[in-house]
Amino acid sequence: MKLEVTINNQKHTLDIHPGDRLLDVLRRDGFTGVKEGCGDGNCGACVVLLNGNPVNSCLILAARVQHQQITTIEGIGNPQKPHPIQIAFADKGAVQCGFSTPGSILSTFSLLQKNPKPTDQEIRRALDGNLCRCTGYVKKIEAIKSLLND
Ligand code: FES
Repeated sequence: MKLEVTINNQKHTLDIHPGDRLLDVLRRDGFTGVKEGCGDGNCGACVVLLNGNPVNSCLILAARVQHQQITTIEGIGNPQKPHPIQIAFADKGAVQCGFSTPGSILSTFSLLQKNPKPTDQEIRRALDGNLCRCTGYVKKIEAIKSLLND
């Protein structure tokens, strides 16, 4: 079947099988910033934004996102032009292996779009689906809070 979807503000028409997961379709189309960790909805490595909201792409059938808007980490920034959230994560040491980083940054991006001045509790709640076994969460929270002072 054909999937028509907007990814990072560009329209794509992709050949998919009805049972394909969104995670696999995105990676197959070159969006390899989307990571697979657990594959069962528990780690958040596969988080992308669906119409601006964080979702675990390992749990979503690609066919379900017909004509919808997806944002991956590639749509947020890149090494040549990083997003301020990416700069803050790097500056505060909130990145180590990098596997959970794209999902954490996308969750943060979504949070700050909706709530530019979140409380500590709101930040923690926004990140509670993004597991990280390297940096933990303190540095990520520090990075996000550093953005609130601007
Ligand atoms: S790979 Fe999707 S939540 Fe872990």
